[in-house]
Amino acid sequence: MTAAHDAARALFTTLTGHEPDGLWSAPGRVNLIGEHTDYNDGFVLPFAIPQRTVAAVGLRDDDRGRILVGSTFADEPVEVGLDELDRLFPTPSGAHPAVPEWAAYPLGVAWALRQAAPGAGPFGGVDIAIASDVPVGAGLSSSAAIEGATASALNELWGTDLDGTALARIGRRAENEAVGAPTGIMDQMASMLGEPDTAIFLDCRSLETRPVPLGVTEAGLEILVIDTRVKHAHSTGGYRERRASCELGASIMGVPALRDVSIADLLRAQELMDDVTFRRVRHIVTENQRVLDTVQLLQEHGVRAIGDLLVASHASMRDDFEISTPELDTAVETALAVGALGARMTGGGFGGAAIALIEADAVEAVSDAVNAAFATAGFAAPLLFTVSPAAGPHRDA
Ligand code: GLA
Repeated sequence: MTAAHDAARALFTTLTGHEPDGLWSAPGRVNLIGEHTDYNDGFVLPFAIPQRTVAAVGLRDDDRGRILVGSTFADEPVEVGLDELDRLFPTPSGAHPAVPEWAAYPLGVAWALRQAAPGAGPFGGVDIAIASDVPVGAGLSSSAAIEGATASALNELWGTDLDGTALARIGRRAENEAVGAPTGIMDQMASMLGEPDTAIFLDCRSLETRPVPLGVTEAGLEILVIDTRVKHAHSTGGYRERRASCELGASIMGVPALRDVSIADLLRAQELMDDVTFRRVRHIVTENQRVLDTVQLLQEHGVRAIGDLLVASHASMRDDFEISTPELDTAVETALAVGALGARMTGGGFGGAAIALIEADAVEAVSDAVNAAFATAGFAAPLLFTVSPAAGPHRDA
């Protein structure tokens, strides 16, 4: 049990006056490579991390059919009738949810789960208290961890009996239609299907997955996360614009999604598109290929071989997709300058975290160098920690 388990249980008891039926948790994720490819029907290679979100949950013994959600990062809990969920969601496109945004994640999961399993039930009233040790806004999918923990708990308590992929779809629906963030499905799949020491190769069109052993420790390496502490939000701004550019690019090429554009097609794409749209398209098309190449290199030569692909991915996000920040570039350049095998920003961009693949005995040296570079540049101090691939959701108590 972690501090988040204790905090979720304590909050539950404060809110309800009794013990929860159980504690369920789900992990955040790091994406090794394959950024913004998920909503283009492409390929990604994320893994779940040890940091988890915990949901303390209990069915109510009254028959009023209400759902209460509380969280350690909100002052007040939110309570609504289960039948009201269909009126609250979907949130109209571009609008804010009718409940506080943090509450739209667990309530959106409850809404989508009921819709996905109409024959199941009865869907009794329920209390949910959430605590997390996944850093929020760091590009490590704290939101998918909330969705995964809530979905796992309700799936068991409501007897809906859905599998991990179905629960990941429910999480994405909550994110897209309740919160209103136009994200893909990578984070939810990574959180739901995580396995120790393994990355998940995911085809975002078919949702087929293949575990790819990473062997980071055996290779004498570590993956260092550098959280720049620049918070991002994907319900607004740049993320939505990038997605729109990709959809425009696909329609100009006459294909359903950029997944269907090959590297050889890029010459034609350049003739047909304005420069910005073309560069957005080039990022997606080359990033899909880098994911495939990374999987192949991991299988044939091991994790030491993938550094250059991580670096190329970062350059593509910085120059073509334009989602990096000065802090992320500093993190990546500094790590590489002091010997990282590879480094790149991870997640949606516009802030959040970078990862660096480094020698296990270089954690301190790289951390010191990054801290010093941030101080020199006048950036806030970053948060640095190593991660290794971890398990997906489970019931902990
Ligand atoms: C966010 C979204 C994901 C994905 C990444 C970028 O994490 O939630 O669906 O698009 O950004 O790869």
